[in-house]
Amino acid sequence: MKYHVVTFGCQMNVADSNEMSARLEARGMASTPEIEEADLVLINTCTVRQQAENRALSLLGRLKEWKKAREGRLIVLTGCAAERIKNEVSWRIPQVDLTVGAKDIERFGERLDELLGERFDWVSETEEAFDSKVVGSGDPISYVTIMRGCNYTCSYCIVPSVRGKEVYRPPETILAEVRAGVETGAKEVLLLGQTVNSYSYNDRGFAELLQQVDAVPGLQRIRYMSPHPHYMDRPTIERMAGLSTVCEHVHLPVQSGSDRLLKEMRRNYTRAWYLEAVNYLRKKIPGVSITTDVIVGFPGETEKDFEQTLGLVEEAGFDSAYCFKYSPRPGTRAAALADDVPTPLKEERLARVFEKMEAQSRRNAQKLIGTKQEILVEETGEGGTKWVVGRTRGNWKVKVALPGRAPVKPGDLVKTKITSADGRAVLGEAIAS
Ligand code: SAH
Ligand code: SF4
Ligand code: F3S
Repeated sequence: MKYHVVTFGCQMNVADSNEMSARLEARGMASTPEIEEADLVLINTCTVRQQAENRALSLLGRLKEWKKAREGRLIVLTGCAAERIKNEVSWRIPQVDLTVGAKDIERFGERLDELLGERFDWVSETEEAFDSKVVGSGDPISYVTIMRGCNYTCSYCIVPSVRGKEVYRPPETILAEVRAGVETGAKEVLLLGQTVNSYSYNDRGFAELLQQVDAVPGLQRIRYMSPHPHYMDRPTIERMAGLSTVCEHVHLPVQSGSDRLLKEMRRNYTRAWYLEAVNYLRKKIPGVSITTDVIVGFPGETEKDFEQTLGLVEEAGFDSAYCFKYSPRPGTRAAALADDVPTPLKEERLARVFEKMEAQSRRNAQKLIGTKQEILVEETGEGGTKWVVGRTRGNWKVKVALPGRAPVKPGDLVKTKITSADGRAVLGEAIAS
């Protein structure tokens, strides 16, 4: 049997898709990049904004024909949107054979065996056998979930209701996964959680975990997503700054530059606290790259609120930002407020913040010209002899020209001199040291 996975949403979903793929493979299935060759399609969904959910629903619509074309084909629906609409799936999307919501992800193997047993008299190896073996993906960057769920109640956000409360994975499990990644070629690990720096396990916090991961032999880089500004305090920043594998990049979602809106959003920090964290990061981690998430058009957002967001983008000196139009989510606190910023105005604000961010990104990229950077190769061209694409520790994507020495492959670290920068398209040349 062949399977094909389509993943929507954030890196947590990517990590979940990897884990579910490993469970499908433990049952003898092989992955295929072609949906037409697949016997089983798994759609791992997102519901953070309505548009994200709609994309999965429209794919499901198209899969009706796919399913009819060959007998025995299966559709499995998982993730956050699946959790939100799980009680409606059987009548709204009858082509789905199995729904496993985000809260049930740990029971995916069990639920899959039920389905396969029902349809094919399938007898699979036990879940315990799977759990005892930790497998690396073979990718240069390994995604490791350190916590699931979220204890926050940001008024616009549906994540806590579809992912549940925080559950921390034990450090030993996390470290075993990091080591397995390194053994199969990973140079970088991305530690994942909705508020990744609120991690705590038997009195050990996020900084202690970073310290342990940093000590894994062979690991070159640590990134983490997404930290919450509330926990980005001085002691944590100081400890992070002392760890050589922790990359000089912090993705620190701010959402808004207006204190009034931050309060309405229930973010639990002020603009001043946020900027203080940014300044301290810059002081302790020279050259650190800071990126963010921004929401425009939250209920009641005035021109003045929005201008404070624009001002903060500049003051914080972000290298890039994901900017979103507010999308009301059923059941959240904000959904009870009038969605009173008209769509054209949301769009105009989105364009303005985007334009400002692009210009700033361009200026920041220019500052890299002439510097030496280490690139972790993700993509190679012409067999890795002419050029490669990878990221700096600061998360800038760089296309590197190679001087024609030995071929370079994904996962290699290449010393590079940055030669030019046009927007975020940064170019460099490999150098000897
Ligand atoms: N846990 C992370 C964010 C997860 S959701 C954190 O707190 O930083 C990713 C991003 O989606 C958020 O940072 C926010 O900018 C955006 N987002 C979440 N809910 C949204 C909504 N209802 N409308 C628009 N954007 C939203
Ligand atoms: Fe959503 Fe807020 Fe939790 Fe992030 S911290 S997942 S924005 S509730
Ligand atoms: Fe989407 Fe769920 Fe991630 S709602 S953003 S996939 S946690």
